[in-house]
Amino acid sequence: MQTKILKVNPKNPKLSQIRQAAKIIRSGKLVAFPTETVYGIGANALDPSAVKRIFVAKGRPSDNPLIVHISDIADLGILVDHIPESSFDVIDKFWPGPLTIVFKKSKIVPKIVTGGLDTVAIRMPKNKIANMLIVEAGTPIAAPSANIAGRPSPTTAKHVIDDLSGRISMILDGGPTKIGIESTVIDLSRNTPMLLRPGGITLEQLQKVLGKVAIHPIIYGKKTKSAHRSPGMKYRHYSPRAKIILIQGTKSKVNKKISQLVQYYKNQGLHIGILSMEKNSTKSDMTRFIGNNPNRIASNLFKSFREFDDRKIDIVLAQEISQKGIGLGIMNRLGKAAYKKVQRVDSPLVLFLVCCPTCSTAEKSLKITHL
Ligand code: TXA
Ligand code: MG
Repeated sequence: MQTKILKVNPKNPKLSQIRQAAKIIRSGKLVAFPTETVYGIGANALDPSAVKRIFVAKGRPSDNPLIVHISDIADLGILVDHIPESSFDVIDKFWPGPLTIVFKKSKIVPKIVTGGLDTVAIRMPKNKIANMLIVEAGTPIAAPSANIAGRPSPTTAKHVIDDLSGRISMILDGGPTKIGIESTVIDLSRNTPMLLRPGGITLEQLQKVLGKVAIHPIIYGKKTKSAHRSPGMKYRHYSPRAKIILIQGTKSKVNKKISQLVQYYKNQGLHIGILSMEKNSTKSDMTRFIGNNPNRIASNLFKSFREFDDRKIDIVLAQEISQKGIGLGIMNRLGKAAYKKVQRVDSPLVLFLVCCPTCSTAEKSLKITHL
């Protein structure tokens, strides 16, 4: 399949271009488009065979449900069974914007969209191109992030081309996305609101409007019986091909640990990258300083992951940041991308290595012995 790429002015999109893309959506095919968070790959949410194409193009497991994107609040009534009172203020304050809300679904939403769940995740994006596309398509658009499953979400059209060229009909190139990590997902379908994925709208912002917000333990990487409530979060994703080692602890100790590890891996002939939020004088094969402003870190995070891959970096050393504000979303993505976490480097005696579930026992013991 030939993928058509259209460059669209993000501030003033040409209606004729958006209409071309909308026609493709109506015909049951796939279009990638920018949102304020990351690029999405869209299909008519009410057409099961169109939605199936998304799962095939991405290689996405069928139990990982999709977000349905709307442009008009009137669409909500059609897609959901019940709009809880708690959602009124949240919608009023954060839509359009980077917040996805989980509701009880109506019968009109095909099962394939929700991975068989009786709930549906809905979001109203702020990005002009996304908004116009939904309006012109005349249907809600189901859209996951436009990456191959497991890869970092795309924040530029080039990232989408790298992953999905030849697998989808069109890409609307509206330039780099602003926020850089995905929307926050909050479940309002039960009595207590529950944060399922931290993102563009912060936990603190939600607490101001909702009061008590439960936090799904999977956000902190904890194993839980209720993983099914947040199906997407159980998958290890956002990862570059390079192995990320996340180093936790105070600044000076972390910097020292980074220098030690750079030396250690260099001696093994590996290419080392540093993803740095603080100035660090250690020389590596590629250091990406993405600043210590959390919004800037968020907007550069996934881009940096892909840049390390382009430079064939084997190991990326990254450090933790505060989990306040958008920091919670950043740390969640870094934690999920991490191959290993080196914890408590503050203590000279204790060095824990926590490996991801896919890491083999042999690898675990090897690294533990070496470090
Ligand atoms: O910013 C975003 O949200 C981007 C843009 C394109 O809108 N989309 C995105 O979609 O990140 P995706 O598919 O990559 O992530 C959707 C997340 C997954 O973690 C999924 O499990 C969760 O939303 N989700 C979808 N429907 C759900 C439901 N009914 N209940 C609980 N979680 C749900
Ligand atoms: Mg995704």
